[in-house]
Amino acid sequence: MVLGGNKRARVVQSKISEALGVSQQTVSRLLNELEAEGYIVRTVKGRGEFVELTENGMKLAEELYGILSTLMRVEDNVLLLEGKVVSGLGEGRFYMNVQYYKNKIKELLGFLPYPGTLNVQVIGESALKRMALTKERGIRIEGFKTEDRFYGGATLFRAKVNGYEQAAIIIPDRTSHPREVLEVIAPIYLRGELGLSDGDRVLLEVKLEVEGRR
Ligand code: CDP
Repeated sequence: MVLGGNKRARVVQSKISEALGVSQQTVSRLLNELEAEGYIVRTVKGRGEFVELTENGMKLAEELYGILSTLMRVEDNVLLLEGKVVSGLGEGRFYMNVQYYKNKIKELLGFLPYPGTLNVQVIGESALKRMALTKERGIRIEGFKTEDRFYGGATLFRAKVNGYEQAAIIIPDRTSHPREVLEVIAPIYLRGELGLSDGDRVLLEVKLEVEGRR
């Protein structure tokens, strides 16, 4: 049985793909699977495609919502994320050497970043919590253009790394990193100061911004 009324939503696969950070082929496959499992019903009208949750789909959504809200419960607007140190491709070093980003970070967070980012791959349920880090809950750096290139925007979150207070997470609007990799910036060389190597556990205490209290 299909629920009527406003449970129906127009799907734009490119939007879903952007929101989830997966390819459009993956979105298409996921929708096919959800339909095959009886969680959604899809109809095509004109040029649009619509998706409705079935009763089973609604039940599943409610269950997941329950699990997620328990996981996401944040105390004092601090989100705890666990991960491990991984190496990247030196992309962070490039951006942290761009004067514009350095100045913005100094202005917004009060420190000049060490030229690089410590990559932390979030693990377990932290991968789900990572989804709570939306642009709205962070501190924004807008993108800017020079004559020959565009430097993208990013969102910052103040964060403690294994208890070290003056760090932050930077999430670029566009990045080649998978979403489960977070980039940490700090005024110090974290690997050296905190004795971190690839594979070491890291606890991130991420400060979520509250409207009007920046
Ligand atoms: O090469 P990769 O993308 O991993 O890193 P990078 O952004 O070029 O940064 C250079 C090195 O400094 C890497 O080993 C980072 O993990 C490390 N780093 C650090 O320990 N503390 C920071 N505040 C920034 C980077």
